[in-house]
Amino acid sequence: MAIVSSKQSSQPDKSPKRSQVKEPKASAVDAPILQPEADPAERQVKQDEKLRPQQLGEYLGQQELKDVLKIAIQASQSRKEALDHLLLYGPPGLGKTTIALILASEMGVTCKVTSAPALERPRDIVGLLVNLQAGDILFIDEIHRLSRMTEELLYPAMEDFRLDITIGKGQSARIRSLPLPPFTLVGATTRVGALSSPLRDRFGFVQRLRFYEPDELSQIVLRTADILKTQVTDQAALEIARRARGTPRIANRLLKRVRDYAEVKKKLIIDPQVATEALELFNVDPCGLDWTDRRLLTVMIEHYNGGPVGVDAIAAATGEDSQTIEEVYEPYLLQIGYLNRTPRGRVATPAAWKHLGYQPPEQQMSLLR
Ligand SMILES: Nc1ncnc2c1ncn2[C@@H]1O[C@H](COP(=O)(O)OP(=O)(O)O)[C@@H](O)[C@H]1O
Ligand SMILES: [Mg+2]
Repeated sequence: MAIVSSKQSSQPDKSPKRSQVKEPKASAVDAPILQPEADPAERQVKQDEKLRPQQLGEYLGQQELKDVLKIAIQASQSRKEALDHLLLYGPPGLGKTTIALILASEMGVTCKVTSAPALERPRDIVGLLVNLQAGDILFIDEIHRLSRMTEELLYPAMEDFRLDITIGKGQSARIRSLPLPPFTLVGATTRVGALSSPLRDRFGFVQRLRFYEPDELSQIVLRTADILKTQVTDQAALEIARRARGTPRIANRLLKRVRDYAEVKKKLIIDPQVATEALELFNVDPCGLDWTDRRLLTVMIEHYNGGPVGVDAIAAATGEDSQTIEEVYEPYLLQIGYLNRTPRGRVATPAAWKHLGYQPPEQQMSLLR
């Protein structure tokens, strides 16, 4: 069990890296001119933060999720209680972290951001918990990776706002309970199936984020273009959106690449032609498939005649991790109908064969009928 001292409770939070207090919007936008240049990686992070919606109204798409959250926010505000714990799951880049930050700003509370790999030792989570203020949001990314001891400390914390810590060792060990302020745990994961059920059951809301439709993504592209002060036509935004794999993070990334191209080519406005030229130059697939998606499908087609083939065999043949295939790549391929899951394994659909320039065999077509 955890061996930690309880004296930290009155200390201020000394972990600025992990705690994040939202800055007012203006200061994030006005880049300091006289300060020395930040290193490129840091600058990139800052630029990405600018693109993150700050309010629920700016968060495009995911209507169902927003409806649920709006009701939850209103109810908890009228009862003056902390929001119930929320688990968000779905592939990377769909807006899980963004939701946690938006919730905090809608509720007018602080969001402390951390991720499971940073909570290796029990004292990491204890330090965060004892420094929470009433109503605060604690966001734990990749929550399926929590260590056993950390997870066990979270159970009473989530359920009864209580921290049970063991003081001393062996025979003389005693458990002390510390009261915690009511807080909201927001967990995010790409692998909801990997969560233990006691942990999953302690969330009041379990919400899935889905892939975005092209029209939703094109709204996101237009919004981002506005922030980046780049002019994009509606058609060009849709062209970028179609290739973004249903994912806002990718849509924003593609827009930046297209903007680079337009700048170099001295085009003032990004129209569909400029967008298409740029996306072709950067080798972005018209369906949004990336290199790994294409490789997975190609291996299935070339080595296994399109399947059925087990995910472990695909993993071995491509050198990808099978969990990553299942959590990151398959959902989109399933969504666009390029992959089917059958009891005997994965099957590449005729649409996938055709997209990659192969003629699907008759036998493959019949498998799907
Ligand atoms: N619904 C949305 N509307 C607008 N932009 C979004 C939306 N969801 C995500 N984004 C953008 O995509 C980026 C990635 O989102 P993020 O919340 O970090 O994804 P996740 O945590 O699920 O991996 C954000 O920085 C934000 O700019
Ligand atoms: Mg995230």
